[in-house]
Amino acid sequence: MRAHNFGAGPCTLPVEVLEEARAEFLDFGGTGMSILEMSHRSPEYERVHTEAMALAREVGEAPDDFEVLFVQGGATLQFALVALNLLHPGERGGYVVSGSWGARALEDASPHGDVYAAWSGQPSNYTTMPAAGEVEVDGATRYLHVTSNETIGGIRMVDFPRTGIPLVGDMSSDYLSRPIDWDLFDLIYGGVQKNLAPAGLAVVYVRRRALDRARSDLGSYLRYSWHAESNSLGNTPPMFPIYLMGKVLARMQAAGGVKALEKHAAEKAGRLYQIIDDSEGFYRNPVHPLVRSHMNVVFRLPDASLESLFLKEAEARRMIGLKGHRSVGGCRASLYAALPMESVEVLAEFMGEFARNHRAL
Ligand SMILES: Cc1ncc(COP(=O)(O)O)c(C=O)c1O
Repeated sequence: MRAHNFGAGPCTLPVEVLEEARAEFLDFGGTGMSILEMSHRSPEYERVHTEAMALAREVGEAPDDFEVLFVQGGATLQFALVALNLLHPGERGGYVVSGSWGARALEDASPHGDVYAAWSGQPSNYTTMPAAGEVEVDGATRYLHVTSNETIGGIRMVDFPRTGIPLVGDMSSDYLSRPIDWDLFDLIYGGVQKNLAPAGLAVVYVRRRALDRARSDLGSYLRYSWHAESNSLGNTPPMFPIYLMGKVLARMQAAGGVKALEKHAAEKAGRLYQIIDDSEGFYRNPVHPLVRSHMNVVFRLPDASLESLFLKEAEARRMIGLKGHRSVGGCRASLYAALPMESVEVLAEFMGEFARNHRAL
């Protein structure tokens, strides 16, 4: 029996994709080799690569003037690459600091360019997102960086700031789970290990115009333009995550694309928020209701000993990965794209039962 995997990433993948990969594992397409052993210059791999790239464009509904790049180093490398590539002397990067990841993006960019916090949710302990007009950008700002979903705080951006400055978005933890308003963005990036594939890869969408004016005085791997010109085959790419991502994206497309994924995500998260809100304060979620994450549902129980008992009993029923991030504690249920509604039902029922058994009488 498969575990109900509520881990924050890496996380659950569609079992059908794992089965397909198992069937092909020793002999990919009659080559007598595993995909793990194959040259990245072979026609078989090139087909896999090109298809995955086309699907990333189609499922993301990315317009033609965006390039799709596959880059190793996860989302963390992108924190630095964004500033390195996009900021010329005299230009600034503004950051919406909506949680731990927004803060990390700003911190990691700071050795590479003139960056500043254009809004911070720290005063509210990262429980709200900026309201219209609250983000303050100055005239030298080249881009405004946002985090569409804060994985640790369980908060998502619903209204993206419209300041006239192009946005750069870290969408790691809700990648392709909702339609993207491409007009607002010059660049979108995300690690794939939550909604799309196993770890080892970031997918970057970058507007061609932004590429044309990006810095060119960088080592090859650090230059977005190098990845674009080489079709992300300038060096040996992370072939296995790309191969699996292609399969996941094909399933997403067949299931109705981002609109269907968005609906599915809202239903899964809604089920748990309902349990939290109906629990008469037994479970508490600190996030403003309008910006609660559809991917990471965070909640506290009345005290630490009940939290550890909850986690222990959940694990005994094969619900794993429910512990909150070590920096904030509590519990967190991550509901990434491949997590089935049945797993959410199992958790919802357990939460209801646990609350009934332990609520002070
Ligand atoms: C929103 C967000 N950004 C960035 C990262 C860092 O990603 P990576 O581990 O791919 O570097 C994470 C990881 O959980 C994340 O959730």
